[in-house]
Amino acid sequence: MIQVNQDICVGCLRCLNVCNFRVFDPVDGRVAANPKRGCMGCMHCAAVCPMGAISWNGEPAAHEEVESYDDNIKEQLVRLVRQRRSYRHFREHPVDEEILKEALELVSWAPSAKNQHPTKWIVVRSKERMDDMMEKILAWIDETGTSAEIAEEYQHGNNVVMGTASTLILAYAPDDAVNPKQDTAIAMATLELLLQSQGVGTCWGGYLTRMLNAVPTLREDFALPAGHSFYGAFMLGYPQDEDYLRVPRRLKQADITWK
Ligand SMILES: Cc1cc2nc3c(=O)[nH]c(=O)nc-3n(C[C@H](O)[C@H](O)[C@H](O)COP(=O)(O)O)c2cc1C
Repeated sequence: MIQVNQDICVGCLRCLNVCNFRVFDPVDGRVAANPKRGCMGCMHCAAVCPMGAISWNGEPAAHEEVESYDDNIKEQLVRLVRQRRSYRHFREHPVDEEILKEALELVSWAPSAKNQHPTKWIVVRSKERMDDMMEKILAWIDETGTSAEIAEEYQHGNNVVMGTASTLILAYAPDDAVNPKQDTAIAMATLELLLQSQGVGTCWGGYLTRMLNAVPTLREDFALPAGHSFYGAFMLGYPQDEDYLRVPRRLKQADITWK
């Protein structure tokens, strides 16, 4: 629960002005949080409080003071956006656990509908498990005749579901979250940039996501809770024999209507 320390508050009203849901009231020259209003825990109030007077369940509701960016931040970001690529061929070595953990933690600062952050992650680093998943996918395709091109490509040594990933990240969320699909896509787009900035190759697994939801044995293996679905997946690893030397041309330009 959000609270304002009345001994510190100077009544500047910045928290009140920034709050998206009118959680704060001015009281006797200070500000008090009304527990009956729907606080979504975005902590913007704490981020603007010059006194550090805002807490969440008794703990400080904000971290360190913000810092300005280096002068070349824009150039670096543009480079990352243009040079990020989909990687499908990887070395055997799984991605360092610390890199993954740090990136997944950082994704909590991406935006999400009503600040719900509904996405949960499963990191698969066992080659045996990946082989087992692939076996189950191929058996299901054989049985149902769905997505036959996956089996066809696989026979030719091309795994369009996982590439030669050393690691998989599977993203799932409750279906009744406010916006699980977009929240997961935003989290994954953020994650991808963070990982690629550290030399980790990633590729969105559209096929993989579809298979995770469609193949009943996979849902069972991962003990997907009822009312949840997979909303995205990455194949990833340290790239092998896949050095992109140039930024590829894009055939589509931004289609913008100015009003
Ligand atoms: C939602 C989504 C699903 C995708 N699914 C697959 C997939 O199943 N297999 C694959 O090899 N690439 C997949 N991709 C990667 C795209 O093919 C790739 O982003 C596109 O060709 C552009 O290449 P680039 O990412 O290197 O710029 C997917 C991308 C997105 C955004």
